[in-house]
Amino acid sequence: MIDDLSFLENNQKRIEKALNKALPNKSYSNITEAIHYSVMDGGKRIRPQLVYLVADSLDLDLKDETIDAMAAAGELIHCYSLIHDDLPAMDDDDLRRGKPSCHIKFGEASAILAGDAIQPLALEIITDIEDPKLSADTKIKIISTFSKACGPFGMVEGQNRDIKSENSEISIDELDMIHALKTGKLISACVHATCLLKEDLPESDMSTFIKFSECIGLAFQIKDDILDCTSSTEDLGKPAHSDEYLKKNTYPKLIGVEESLARADSLCEEAIKCLKSLPYKTEKLIKLSKFIVERNN
Ligand code: IPE
Ligand code: IPE
Ligand code: MG
Ligand code: MG
Ligand code: MG
Repeated sequence: MIDDLSFLENNQKRIEKALNKALPNKSYSNITEAIHYSVMDGGKRIRPQLVYLVADSLDLDLKDETIDAMAAAGELIHCYSLIHDDLPAMDDDDLRRGKPSCHIKFGEASAILAGDAIQPLALEIITDIEDPKLSADTKIKIISTFSKACGPFGMVEGQNRDIKSENSEISIDELDMIHALKTGKLISACVHATCLLKEDLPESDMSTFIKFSECIGLAFQIKDDILDCTSSTEDLGKPAHSDEYLKKNTYPKLIGVEESLARADSLCEEAIKCLKSLPYKTEKLIKLSKFIVERNN
């Protein structure tokens, strides 16, 4: 039986609206134009999906707008990271989400500034949530969770190590750490921050959700590595073989495509095991987990 994934489409529509609402007026400047260009109409929106589906599973008694703000925040931090990841000083990729990368379309300075702008915007959106059922204390914990995930001990350090290890071979443990930092931390933050919205969530359930996010985060980046060398630029909407060209350390490079697929599958199984052990409605999160490792772009 083919899985019914229509909930992913519904969430996709929901995040498009939430992002549109969260962004500054497009016509204000060349930077706001670049922001709209890079954030709207593109991407799989996996981080918002995680926010929506964790929120669903926990049956949160909060405004829809509160969950939308969290989903938009996660996606904005991600979009910032993509704009900067494509810059000439980083991966130097000309194509993103099927169109010219932000710096190709708007120039390097504007792309740097557009990325710079949407990172604090993400935190501002959370700061501005008005929901009588969301305490100020929880809000601060959420902001802290997202901040740590993308800071010097999170995504930034992952990107730093990713670039520093080009042209040299590292161990699989070192690669796992890079993947956990550059990609896993933000994915985990989306899950963790949404769990924080449930103030009476038992510690052990929180830990299980976080463990789930770590497994699916690593599986996600392994699949991204695999697609770089097995898919086409057309299907990916970003340049295929970019990792190979830059002599990056990737899963397929270190252990081959077959073993990489097996590792992604086993991480996905581990993630699903976590979800099944939880006393919540996690069926949709299980379907999303499978989608993450089975996807073609
Ligand atoms: C690409 O992320 C960058 C990584 C962290 C691997 P996605 O594959 O989620 O990119 P979009 O958002 O769908 O374009
Ligand atoms: C990017 O990883 C991770 C971040 C953006 C933080 P990649 O460099 O593998 O992402 P793609 O393949 O360009 O999307
Ligand atoms: Mg990169
Ligand atoms: Mg890249
Ligand atoms: Mg990649």
